[in-house]
Amino acid sequence: MTYDDIRKQFLDYFESHGHKIVPSASLIPNDPTLLFTVAGMVPWKGILQGVEPAFAPRVADVQKCIRAGGKHNDLDEVGYDGRHHTFFEMLGNWSFGDYFKEEAISMSWELLTRVFGLDPNRIVVTTHISDDEATAIWKKITGKDAIRLDKDNWWSAGDTGPCGPCTEMHYDFGSDIPGDLPGSGNEGNRFVEIWNDVFMQYDRDANGVLTPLPKQNVDTGAGLERFASIMQNKQDNYDTDLFMNLIHAIESVTGVKKTDENTPSFKVIADHLRAVGFAIADGVIPSNSDRGYVIRRILRRAMRHGQMLGHRGALLSELYPALIQEMGATYPELAHEQEHVTEIIRNEENAFTDMLQNGMKLLDSELPKINNKTLPGDIAFKLFDTYGFPIDLTQMILRDKGLDVDVAGFEKCMTEQKERSRADTKGTKVLWESQEQLPATDDSAKYMPDTEMQSKVLAILRDGEFVTMAQPGDNVEVALDKTVFYGTQGGQVGDMGELHKDDAIAMTVSETSRANNIVVHKGTLNAPLSVGDIVKPVINLNIRQQTARAHTATHLLQAALRKVLNTDVEQRGSKVSPDSVRFDFSFGRAMTDEEKIAVENLVNEWINADMPVTHEEMDIESARARGAMALFGEKYGDVVKVITAGDVSCELCGGTHIYHTGEILKAKINKEKSISSGIRRITMSVGTLAE
Ligand code: SER
Repeated sequence: MTYDDIRKQFLDYFESHGHKIVPSASLIPNDPTLLFTVAGMVPWKGILQGVEPAFAPRVADVQKCIRAGGKHNDLDEVGYDGRHHTFFEMLGNWSFGDYFKEEAISMSWELLTRVFGLDPNRIVVTTHISDDEATAIWKKITGKDAIRLDKDNWWSAGDTGPCGPCTEMHYDFGSDIPGDLPGSGNEGNRFVEIWNDVFMQYDRDANGVLTPLPKQNVDTGAGLERFASIMQNKQDNYDTDLFMNLIHAIESVTGVKKTDENTPSFKVIADHLRAVGFAIADGVIPSNSDRGYVIRRILRRAMRHGQMLGHRGALLSELYPALIQEMGATYPELAHEQEHVTEIIRNEENAFTDMLQNGMKLLDSELPKINNKTLPGDIAFKLFDTYGFPIDLTQMILRDKGLDVDVAGFEKCMTEQKERSRADTKGTKVLWESQEQLPATDDSAKYMPDTEMQSKVLAILRDGEFVTMAQPGDNVEVALDKTVFYGTQGGQVGDMGELHKDDAIAMTVSETSRANNIVVHKGTLNAPLSVGDIVKPVINLNIRQQTARAHTATHLLQAALRKVLNTDVEQRGSKVSPDSVRFDFSFGRAMTDEEKIAVENLVNEWINADMPVTHEEMDIESARARGAMALFGEKYGDVVKVITAGDVSCELCGGTHIYHTGEILKAKINKEKSISSGIRRITMSVGTLAE
C-alpha cells in the first residue's frame, strides 16, 4: 500500500463514519507558543479549548508537521535511525465534544485490523496509569491488557492549553528483531508506536493547574511514514516508496549511489528536503531568528551531507522538483510556490556554499589540535560567526568523528559578542539620547556640502563615557553645534570626512549617524580634541557624490518599477550607500528576466536623457498638490523637500541628491529576490561601480 493509498483509505474510513474531511493547515501555526505545527491538533487548539466554535463535530485530516527546534525536536535523531523525521504527515481524527473514549478506541482498532488488515496479535496498547476507563475499554473490545504508563501516556502540544491522558498503539515487528515492550525505554526496532488517541479533558494554565474542559474531545495522531513502513513491511521508514523515490532523485542529482556507509546522508537530505521545501512553501523565510533560523539550520545540515557525498553547491533547490513529483498531488502549494521556493533555497545555497568549504578547512586544521575529544568553544564560535555554521551543524559534523564541542565556551563567546555589539551600536545611541542638555545639531547646511563653517565641539564620547578631552589614536564620537555632515537617516547612509582644527586633520570621520536630533561623527583622532574646540567639518565630496547619485537612482528605480510592473508597487524600505542601492518594494511574485531588463533599460534611458533634478522646499499641501510620492506611514514636517527628476519622478525626500540624472552615469540591477511574503528586494549598482 503506497502513501497515497494509505492517506485515501484513512480518510475514506472516517468519512464513512460521519467525519468531515479537511485539508492540512499551514506549518506556520497561529500560536505564539509554537515554532511550527508540531501535531495534527495544533490548528484545532482553540476548538479543543472551547474558545472557538467547532465547525463540525467530527473531523479527519492529514496534517503537515515539523518537529524541529522547539520543545518537540527530532532534528538530531534524523539520519541515524529509520523512524525520525523533522517533517512528517500526521493522520488524525477528531471529536469536538462528540464521541469519546469508547468510540475512538473501537474505530482505531477497526481501522488497524479490518481496513489495514494488521494482525491483532502484533498490536500492543498502552494507557495512562490514571485511566482505568480506557484500560477497561481495550479489554472489552480486544481482550488485551494495556500496559499502564505515566509520562508517555499524557499529551500536550505546548506548556499550556488542552491536554489529557492518551492511549497508544504499537506495532510488533516480531521477536527476531531486538527490542523490549513499550515503556521499557529499549523498544529498539521491534516495537513502533503507530497511533496515539488523546482524550483531551483538561486545560493546563501557566502554573500547571489542570481545569476540566467544557467538552470532552478526542485528538488522534498516526504517523503516516510509520504506517507506510508497516504496510510495506520495511523496518526503516526511509525504505518506503515515497522516500525511495526521493533517494533515487538524490542519487541522480549528486551522481552518488546509496551504500551502507553513506545511507545517513541520504536520509538526512531526503528528510530535510521535505522540511525545507514545505516550510518555505508555507511562507517561512530562512533567517537568523525563530523558525527562519530552524529552516536555515536544516538547510545547512542538508548541504553538509551533500558535501559528504562529494556534492558541491545547489542541492535542495535541484531536488525540489522530485518533492513536487512525490507529494505535489496531495499538497498543491508545492507546485504553486515552486518559483518562490526554488529561488529562496537557491539564494541560501549560494550564500552558504563557499562558507561551508572554508569553514570545513578551518575545522580540519583545528582537529589535530583537539584535546579531550572536545572542540574549544572559541573555534565553534568562529565557525558560527565567520562561516555561518550553526552550533548544531558543528556538533553534527563532530559527532560523526566521535568528538564533542565545548558548548559552554561557545555560549560565552556568543554573550561576549552580544555585549560588544550592544556597546558598539545601540549602546552609544542610547548614551547620546540620554544627553538631554545637548541642543539639536544645526545640520541645515547638509545640502550645501562645500559650505565652510566653524563649529564648536559640544560633546565627546569615548569607550562609553563622555569626556572633556581625548587624545590622538582614540576612537571617539563627537557632537558639534552645526555641521555639513549628513547623519544616516531615511535609508541613506551618512557621510565620511574629516574635522579640521588649525588647518590640520584633527579627526577622520568614518561614519555619521543620528541620535534623536544630534548628528554623531564617529572616527579616530589624529590630534588632541577638547569640548569647546572650534573645528571645520569637511566631508568627502567624492563619497557624497556617489551616495547622492545612488539616491536619485533609487527614485528612478521606483518610477521604473511602477511603470513596468504596476502602480501598486510601493517602497517598503531602502538602503542607499555610495554607488549602491538596496530597494524593497511590495510585489507579489518574482520579476521575470524580461521585466528586470525593461526596468534597468528604463532607468538607463532616463540617465542618458540627462534630465534636470530639482530640489525644492514647500509646504506639505503644495507637495501633495504636485503629486509628490510619500512613504506610507512616514511622518513629515510642515515644510518638506520635494525631489523631482524630469517628468518621471517626484518624491518627498530628505536625502541628498544630484542635479542632473546624467551624473548617475549608469545603473545595473544585480539581484531581485523575495525577502518576505509579498516583498521583493532589488540590489542595484550605479556610477563607476556599475560601469
Ligand atoms: N496530539 C497527539 C500526538 O501528536 C495525537 O494526535 O501524538
